[in-house]
Amino acid sequence: MKLHSNELPSGKSYTLHKTLAIVFSLVILTVIPLLYNLVNYYSVFIVNNSPKSPSNSYSSSSNEKNDGVAETLSNYQEEEEECDIFTGEWIPNPNAPYYTSSSCWAIHEHQNCMKYGRPDGGFMQWRWKPDACELPIFNPSQFLELMRDKSLAFVGDSVGRNQMQSLICLLSRVEYPIDESYTADENFKRWKYKSYNFTMASFWTPHLIKAAMGDSNGPTKTGLFNLYLDEHDQEWTTQIDEFHYIIISGGHWFFRPMVFYENHRIVGCHYCLLPNVTDLGMYYGYRKAFRTAFKAINSLKNFKGMTILRTFAPSHFENGLWNEGGNCLRTKPFRSNETQLEGHNLELYMIQMEEFRVAEREGRKRGKKFRVLDTTQAMLLRPDGHPSRYGHLATENVTLYNDCVHWCLPGPIDAWSDFLLQMLKMEGIRSVRDRLQFG
Ligand SMILES: *[C@@H]1O[C@H](CO)[C@@H](O)[C@H](O)[C@H]1NC(C)=O
Ligand SMILES: *[C@@H]1O[C@H](CO)[C@@H](O)[C@H](O)[C@H]1NC(C)=O
Ligand SMILES: *[C@@H]1O[C@H](CO)[C@@H](O)[C@H](O)[C@H]1NC(C)=O
Ligand SMILES: *[C@@H]1O[C@H](CO)[C@@H](O)[C@H](O)[C@H]1NC(C)=O
Repeated sequence: MKLHSNELPSGKSYTLHKTLAIVFSLVILTVIPLLYNLVNYYSVFIVNNSPKSPSNSYSSSSNEKNDGVAETLSNYQEEEEECDIFTGEWIPNPNAPYYTSSSCWAIHEHQNCMKYGRPDGGFMQWRWKPDACELPIFNPSQFLELMRDKSLAFVGDSVGRNQMQSLICLLSRVEYPIDESYTADENFKRWKYKSYNFTMASFWTPHLIKAAMGDSNGPTKTGLFNLYLDEHDQEWTTQIDEFHYIIISGGHWFFRPMVFYENHRIVGCHYCLLPNVTDLGMYYGYRKAFRTAFKAINSLKNFKGMTILRTFAPSHFENGLWNEGGNCLRTKPFRSNETQLEGHNLELYMIQMEEFRVAEREGRKRGKKFRVLDTTQAMLLRPDGHPSRYGHLATENVTLYNDCVHWCLPGPIDAWSDFLLQMLKMEGIRSVRDRLQFG
């Protein structure tokens, strides 16, 4: 599957990027803290600031499931402290990785960096350390216990699938799922954890809305897509009612040429080079796609689940664009003072968050929960975590570019499950607290 993102050297949007980069780097210091405050206000992730190191007991003990929550709750009550788990640094973790290419079958070939001979293993041995607290390493039995009789869907593109496969591998220490897919289409998988009655599914929707390939070539030979900016992608919107959690994400496909439709008519495009069609830039389509996707969720009467926006995970092409020999050859994470969110990474992040907040406000009126799995900053710091050329055999005759978009498994994307479990545990604490307060 050709799922590589295209960062287009389109003159127009490049100038736009540059202008935006300048504008946004001026305001970044004021905007980002504000942003986090707002996020915290709506989606408080309160973490106990316990002095002990994160549980490296990866193994499961029989009473872990109850003790974990009870302990976190009591710590929380002892020293109530808010912590933004998404702001921090990567620190060495000699205990990682927690699975290997031979112990987990769920790794997509193109992300199987160990198998394809990536020489350095150091990129696997880091964990995320929030500035103000600890983020425990993922505990698979605790996660499965929390997910008993529940269901989780990944709605998005191949980076979303990358996360699902990481989660399957992390959970494999306890149990592998069985395949209950209702179609042979690999883009719509359905997995069942029998012992826990936990269902996990993936829905392929790289643009989140109704879209179709208009021309398999297009100006950049990577496809020209028709995006129907005001129409739902029914492939997923008709399927999610039953799910307790959906993790929605998107980004990399919006770099490709697109023609935008609204009200069944062409309103503009992004780098389509068609006569008489105005180039509105990718951000126009990106914002409307998220707006329409979130509106779809809010319009579903029977969907009672929690919507989790997994924010944009930056790619790391250096010394050239994706199609100009750009590559990602670093072997260590950045420290947070060595780089910053800027250019289109920042713009895509901001657009998502703005549309998210609108959706969250609307959702609250309808009793729907929206949360943020804010991976952008953590992943910005991981130029070392991509497959590069280790996503296939060196001798294989494939036309794959260096992959600096997806993430090696095992690799830094495994931390997304650390975040997810911590968020779910905090939800539990919130609901207990709400019961204590209002019960
Ligand atoms: C399994 O979980 C689903 C919800 O995901 C629930 O409707 C069903 O009753 C559960 N089955 C059993 C046997 O508990
Ligand atoms: C572009 O629009 C102009 C004015 O409406 C029209 O005369 C021309 O034929 C159009 N060109 C194309 C290629 O559609
Ligand atoms: C970043 O912070 C570290 C630790 O505080 C420090 O050693 C390093 O010099 C800083 N790097 C830059 C580029 O400021
Ligand atoms: C590699 O694939 C291309 C296109 O599929 C083909 O034209 C070429 O002959 C192949 N080369 C080798 C060495 O197999």
